[in-house]
Amino acid sequence: MTHSSNYKNSKQAWEKDVEKTMNRFPERKEPFTTSSNLSIDRLYYPNQEEETYSTNQGFPGQFPYTRGIQPTMYRSRYWTMRQYAGFGSAEETNRRFRYLLDQGQTGLSVAFDLPTQIGYDSDDAMAEGEVGKVGVAIDSLKDMEQLFDEIPLDQVSTSMTINAPASILLAMYIAVGEKQGVEAEKLTGTIQNDILKEYIARGTYIYPPKPSMRIITDIFSYCQSHLPKFNTISISGYHIREAGSTAVQEVAFTIANGMAYVDAALASGLEIDQFAPRLAFFFNAHNQFFEEAAKFRAARRIWAKIMKDHYHAQNPKSWKLRFHTQTGGSTLTAQQPDNNIVRVTLQALAAVMGGTQSLHTNSRDEALALPTEESARIALRTQQIIAHESGVADTIDPLGGSYYVEALTDKIEEEANVYLDSIKKLGGAVQAVEEGYMQREIHQAAYEAQKRLEANEDVVVGLNEFKAEEEINPDLLRVDEALEAGQIRKVKDVRAARDQSEVDQILSRLREAAKGSENLMPHIVTAVKAYATVGEIANVLRDEFGEYSGM
Ligand code: 3HC
Repeated sequence: MTHSSNYKNSKQAWEKDVEKTMNRFPERKEPFTTSSNLSIDRLYYPNQEEETYSTNQGFPGQFPYTRGIQPTMYRSRYWTMRQYAGFGSAEETNRRFRYLLDQGQTGLSVAFDLPTQIGYDSDDAMAEGEVGKVGVAIDSLKDMEQLFDEIPLDQVSTSMTINAPASILLAMYIAVGEKQGVEAEKLTGTIQNDILKEYIARGTYIYPPKPSMRIITDIFSYCQSHLPKFNTISISGYHIREAGSTAVQEVAFTIANGMAYVDAALASGLEIDQFAPRLAFFFNAHNQFFEEAAKFRAARRIWAKIMKDHYHAQNPKSWKLRFHTQTGGSTLTAQQPDNNIVRVTLQALAAVMGGTQSLHTNSRDEALALPTEESARIALRTQQIIAHESGVADTIDPLGGSYYVEALTDKIEEEANVYLDSIKKLGGAVQAVEEGYMQREIHQAAYEAQKRLEANEDVVVGLNEFKAEEEINPDLLRVDEALEAGQIRKVKDVRAARDQSEVDQILSRLREAAKGSENLMPHIVTAVKAYATVGEIANVLRDEFGEYSGM
């Protein structure tokens, strides 16, 4: 096929897609104009085939999706404004959720406390001092019901940042939906469920790799038949970047992990076009504006080619890399915290110019503590101003065609592929993680960045240049110390009120399933509905799978 016929075909395919999409997602306004009433086209592209346009850039919603995964992108629907939130008790977090929804947030994102994230109940000795600290304390279905009180689960999508016990929290979400009269098939949202990056960078793992991958593919299989609208994993580069990786490493290691999940799902007998459309991604956005925007464009193109040409997926939905972005926590400074509003604005802008589907903007005080209500509101307003006042969402992929951004997109793709080849030679991401390859690469990058900072080669305003005499004592959010005692009382009351023999029977059936190869999800759903707790369920699997001691 000649370039020009390829170009003509993909342009026609895009135009047809636009028409089809407009029925379900009509564009936000008609016409789109600048403040001087100059009309804004849906997309700017060469008016005849440039050598590589269709294979390199292509049209939005068309393979290889460099310019975005939807034919009309933000002209029809803005990205989801999805602020990560959670602290203290389920009631407190429910209040913050409802506040953010009232302030115009369009999706929920749950931060769980560390005991929940590593499968301990609030009254476990391991939980002492951490209950409700970095996220909401969830022990049983009772907490989960309170967390979503007066929030209709058929009208909001919920992301849950939960990995090792993802199956348990997903089961609780299903049970809350049922109590609200919302069938599982209607639930929308995402569980992070990405254990490999926990081994690499974040640390909230429980079980060794093999059983962890089994639980993950059990979730894929269960969601395929019970929760068709739920994203089964959020393959995360965010924490890899926060651990000090470069942008290129962030893309490469995340995609390598993604391939490991695809391989595991295929090995478990799942069909690629059944599970792949519900894989999702999660990236960081740091300060270098053009590199970040180019990074997202390169990531989409790399993943599209891998899914189509390496795994031979046939369904275009399997080729699309859909992602959430969180602005870079590690770029924020404790010094002059208001400067962080500017950093977050630039980072959020880069995510939007890079075509993100969902976005969390950090609050100015997050280098010091969890955000106050005021800081969280400013963070949300940042996204709303970008969406409604800047005009950047009024045409698709506005940086497309820029000599610099296209060159950077190509370069990031090229460099990321070098890492992917190295990981492939090691036998894939699981082996690379066990061998410590990615960790070493990240630590080296972090070390070099720290040296540049200390040599003042890299400037961080307010930190190593442009300092100010200041009292660092802004109004910070404090989690009530009495919370832990209250949460402990609550979980003991739940255990006292339930049918203990029923719970014992269910947990022993879960244990049998764990010893075999049965899908664990149905047993976990039954267990949470009987008010078995996160810790009790996680401990049954600890007994059967053991705990991972790390690299
Ligand atoms: N044209 C046509 N359709 C469109 C459209 C358009 N322009 N825009 C949106 N749509 C459709 C989509 O196709 C989708 O429909 P479908 O599900 O039937 O395909 C629907 O509208 C919703 O759109 P998206 O799926 O794009 O948006 P969501 O927000 O629902 O999902 C996601 C985005 C990235 C796929 C999803 O996985 C998600 O929400 N992820 C969030 C993850 C998250 O918040 N993580 C936080 C982690 S915090 C953390 O770990 C850091 C801590 O440790 C410090």
